[in-house]
Amino acid sequence: MNNPILIIDDEKGIRSVLGDILQDEGYTVYDAGSGADGLSLLRTRLVDLVFLDVWMPGMGGLDVLKAIKADWPDLPVVMISGHSKIDMAVRAIKEGAFDFVEKPLSIDKTLALVQNALRLQELSRENRQLRSSLLQENVMIGECPPMRRVKDMIQQSAPTDSRVIILGENGTGKELVAREIHRLSPRFRKPFVEVNCAAIPDTLIESELFGHEKGSFTSALGQRKGKFELANGGTIFLDEVADMSLNAQAKVLRAVQEMRFERIGGEQTLSVDVRIISATNKDIVAEVAAGRFREDLYYRLNVVPILVPPLRDRLEDLPLLVDHFLGQFCAKNLLGSKKTVPHFSPEAWKVVTEHSWPGNIRELKNYLERLSVMVDGDVIELDVAQAMLGDVSNAGQSSPLEPWQNMSLNEAKDAFEKSFIEEKFRKNQYSVPKTAQDLGLYPSNLHSKLKKFGIEVEK
Ligand SMILES: Nc1ncnc2c1ncn2[C@@H]1O[C@H](COP(=O)(O)OP(=O)(O)OP(=O)(O)O)[C@@H](O)[C@H]1O
Ligand SMILES: [Mg+2]
Repeated sequence: MNNPILIIDDEKGIRSVLGDILQDEGYTVYDAGSGADGLSLLRTRLVDLVFLDVWMPGMGGLDVLKAIKADWPDLPVVMISGHSKIDMAVRAIKEGAFDFVEKPLSIDKTLALVQNALRLQELSRENRQLRSSLLQENVMIGECPPMRRVKDMIQQSAPTDSRVIILGENGTGKELVAREIHRLSPRFRKPFVEVNCAAIPDTLIESELFGHEKGSFTSALGQRKGKFELANGGTIFLDEVADMSLNAQAKVLRAVQEMRFERIGGEQTLSVDVRIISATNKDIVAEVAAGRFREDLYYRLNVVPILVPPLRDRLEDLPLLVDHFLGQFCAKNLLGSKKTVPHFSPEAWKVVTEHSWPGNIRELKNYLERLSVMVDGDVIELDVAQAMLGDVSNAGQSSPLEPWQNMSLNEAKDAFEKSFIEEKFRKNQYSVPKTAQDLGLYPSNLHSKLKKFGIEVEK
């Protein structure tokens, strides 16, 4: 039992008496002689409970309480009240205080209150966690040897604080693995904070990760906490980590190494206790070799690598996955209007097993969701199975830009230009003048592009 507790009281006597009582019980105790000191301490330390004096010179207890509730709405605050200030303590309860204790403090009552407050906080976190895991229905299906290995790695790494990097193609379940590690770790009652490194523009990534102070840059209207701070005590999930710019990588490196950082425009160095899990669908070793990913950061993140296999390498799990998803979708979509979950005819099943599933589990899931809506009878026949597959094979990819995702802008431009010209060329029966006109180019210009891209000019 080591929950850190903060005491904010201007009376030194109260701080030391209460501090001693709590320390004797094994709690870590911080104290502050004023509201302002208490608030700044909260910004740099992880605290599970606050004792707060109702009446203090300077910033009064009620104002401090409001400030705490604005920034840490779930942090329980117990008011300390003198006999004549009970009415203020009662008002504080209305403002969100957990309870109050009266001076002189009764040891038993105070300790019972501490236990209740901490327990309630844990329960509400656990509750939230359970609710979200129920909603996401995030059970991990798969019994084939490669998935067994993944599950073993999860079991082994979860109780530790080791950094884990999860590698695998799009839609293989990397995020699910990350959430599972957090759920099974001692940090499960604390936050799991996801950062999609690919989705944040380079100019904003520092503020996103580390936060900023009010006015630190033009669009910084108020103080904002970064993801590292929000994840304190819990886990941060750096998704698509290989998509970060070198500039952002340098910033992350320091935070990862030292678990310390400053908000943009902030003077104070914040320390946090955060477990780091990262993931990427890129060949990160190749990214390092190409100089696009810092080697030092790679070694920091890659303590325990977990490789999630593509679906085509675990087809023996298909029946389990299909049963699971179809059952889930039918139950959800049809609200009991359909009695049985449909099954694939042998010919239709062959289509499923022979498909390469480039979008992996996500593609399979989308496919089955579609089928659960479209199929009326008990049997999924060949034609439907085939038609729906055609429709969703692209939906398995997360973006229409997918084919260019791993290229630089110039490479992507060239690749696009080449396919575009090839396509038009074919459409115009390999006629240079016609194709040039179609593309709005001079024939000479088209000729040089054909040459550049090595496109054969058939006679
Ligand atoms: N083994 C599994 N059992 C059940 N559901 C799974 C499994 N693997 C993945 N899923 C589901 O498939 C979907 C895609 O998984 P997830 O988002 O974790 O993939 P990802 O590897 O992070 O994909 P991306 O690279 O596109 O970000 C999710 O809805 C997830 O719940
Ligand atoms: Mg993902």
